Amino acid sequence: MASLTVRQIDEALKQQLRLRAARHGRSVEDEIRNILRDAAGDTETPPGPSPSQRATEPAATAARRVLLIIGGGIAAYKSLDLIRRLKERGIAVRCILTKAAEEFITPLSAGAITGERVFSDLFDPAHEFDVGHIRLAREADLIVVAPATADLMAKMANGLANDLATAVLLAAKAKILLAPAMNPAMWSNRATQRNLAQLTADGVTMIGPNSGEMAESGERGLGRMAEPLEIAASVEGIFKTAGAPQPLQGKRVLITAGPTHEPIDPVRYIANRSSGKQGYAIAQAAAAAGADVTLISGPVNLPKPAGVTVVDVETARDMLDAVERALPADVAIFAAAVADWRVANAGAQKIKKKAGAATPELALAENPDILSTIAHRPSGRPGLVIGFAAETENVEANAKAKLAKKGCDWILANDVSPATGIMGGDNNTIKLVTANGIEPWPPQSKEDAATMLIARIAAALKGDKT
Ligand SMILES: Cc1cc2nc3c(=O)[nH]c(=O)nc-3n(C[C@H](O)[C@H](O)[C@H](O)COP(=O)(O)O)c2cc1C
Repeated sequence: MASLTVRQIDEALKQQLRLRAARHGRSVEDEIRNILRDAAGDTETPPGPSPSQRATEPAATAARRVLLIIGGGIAAYKSLDLIRRLKERGIAVRCILTKAAEEFITPLSAGAITGERVFSDLFDPAHEFDVGHIRLAREADLIVVAPATADLMAKMANGLANDLATAVLLAAKAKILLAPAMNPAMWSNRATQRNLAQLTADGVTMIGPNSGEMAESGERGLGRMAEPLEIAASVEGIFKTAGAPQPLQGKRVLITAGPTHEPIDPVRYIANRSSGKQGYAIAQAAAAAGADVTLISGPVNLPKPAGVTVVDVETARDMLDAVERALPADVAIFAAAVADWRVANAGAQKIKKKAGAATPELALAENPDILSTIAHRPSGRPGLVIGFAAETENVEANAKAKLAKKGCDWILANDVSPATGIMGGDNNTIKLVTANGIEPWPPQSKEDAATMLIARIAAALKGDKT
């Protein structure tokens, strides 16, 4: 159908059509084509914006809708990948670009990836005839600001609303997740830290920033935007938590995870094969159950779980310090694979290989036993102390002996011999060892094992018999 002529329609209907077309960002003729196509039951994708690309009734009808606000920072290009990561997870994404963001990426690229019209103008007549900024705020289940510039944080902290992004943020009732990204000097500036404190007090959730290389050559420090995968995991965590029962509401849960690195010299270290996946899954499950979670993590390559306070450490001694600082807690779960020994004679400088010289000998010193130290605390011992026993032989006997020796309440024993694939893998087969006996759990994913553990903890805190 090359052209379309519609006669004898009254002025009121014409006006309705004009409004509807403007709302969908189409010409009146295209709008009528769409109406006819829908009425005829044609499911082929029409030219121009598809029904799912409509400005006001988009994929936003999907169960989980994110409104992504992209600020004017160098990390804006990463937000295009974030859109992809969110969509891979079945999350509908709409996008607002600030004017400054348009200096870094184009609305065209964001629109092509979201499959939606991209918004940037507060005074856009096609969108604002029915106060579209309020609707944008209302139609999101979660608002993500990434990158959150120093400028956006300042405006949000002070309630400014002088462009579309800030007007939407001020009108929002949905939860807001901010991924700050800026130069380390901007991040550590007292004004930014004041704004951060204000936003946290206002209930805004933060992810990052991370530490590392900056876009400016030679600059390093705290200020890199969290990676798209980390933000996507955080978004998923928030959606999972919303609507889930909260059996650990009001409880403080402390979890350790990952390996520790024990330096040999400034560039070498002793480590183990722990990936941290089980501890991270437990932290996520505890947060989803409403707990106030602190995760003390050795060096791992995992996204930070949403809604969890993560303390990064390297060595066993750092981990014990961080655990003690994080007390008091109702429950402590020690899932980290802490090195039993550290190098007593670690070099202050890189140990050099010298032709003909003897191979250096490493003297080992015993590390503190974190589980036993906390379980034997005369005061401030968490009510429920849980350890892991990663064994390669005599799993049950060793786990029972560990329960008695360490003074903890439960041991989660697992066989980490290489053939099981548990160390570093995605699944786990656990035996729960308590004073009352041994309970074998089925082989399952580490996430399912975490959910099972959190359900057991919730039951134990309620007073049910273990
Ligand atoms: C090349 C360049 C890179 C920038 N990168 C950042 C950044 O990473 N973080 C930030 O807070 N501001 C950054 N700025 C400054 C912001 O673009 C500026 O504060 C702007 O007003 C932010 O607008 P918005 O918050 O409305 O997006 C950068 C500016 C330039 C010219």
